[in-house]
Amino acid sequence: MNNLTPAELVLMRKACQITRDALNYAETLIKPGISTKALDNLVEKFIINSGAIPACKGYEGYPATICASVNDTVVHGIPSEKVILKEGDIISVDIVVEYKGLYGDATRTFPVGKISPEKAKLIEVTKQCFFEGVKHLKVGHRLGELSNAIQKYAESNGFSVVRELVGHGIGKSMHEPPNVPNYGKVTDGPIVTENACLAVEPMINMGRKDVWLLEDGWGVVTRDGKASAHYENTVHVTKDGVEILTL
Ligand code: MF3
Ligand code: CO
Repeated sequence: MNNLTPAELVLMRKACQITRDALNYAETLIKPGISTKALDNLVEKFIINSGAIPACKGYEGYPATICASVNDTVVHGIPSEKVILKEGDIISVDIVVEYKGLYGDATRTFPVGKISPEKAKLIEVTKQCFFEGVKHLKVGHRLGELSNAIQKYAESNGFSVVRELVGHGIGKSMHEPPNVPNYGKVTDGPIVTENACLAVEPMINMGRKDVWLLEDGWGVVTRDGKASAHYENTVHVTKDGVEILTL
């Protein structure tokens, strides 16, 4: 697990604050009638105006700033003029920002207008999965304690956990070791070390856990076509607790 210097941590906090601000800005734009491409353009301008770099753009050939994943899309939905938000949709917006060589990564799932109670519950449970997991993220403990807590909370609410995608270490690059799964046993994974920065990101399905990769090579959708939600923050583990950097 990584261990940034105090000076790097200052930049890390700034990267994460810009990520959070970009998500809050995205939230103000979400309404029926806007395309995910228009959303992407505006968020890109916001990040650049903040003095940061949209880190997803060009990453392994990814063509946009945000991932805009609507309804049954779990992650990595490519923004498109053809995808126009409508009342009752849910959309997860995933943003990664680079600021002076340090990375922030966060995701929120937003309602579009009035949504069904079932979708509202999915959004709330997915967010709460993050907080249940982080309660178990402690120096000297196994990372599996966090993973197990997330899985238990999701499944006890009747939802399922995506297996193919996991959280990750983050810092001087977007993806660093270790993997941070949202499922598993308390005895799984490495021992958590002081000062580690991690992206914790439950991806929770309303129906079955199984997913497909779309033909565009990026979008991941549920096989049963039911909705999926995603909630992510970049966190910093200290000996006194967890600092949530993108909140
Ligand atoms: N938050 C996503 C992740 O951790 C961002 C990936 S978008 C990509 O995988 F295009 F950069 F891959
Ligand atoms: Co991430």
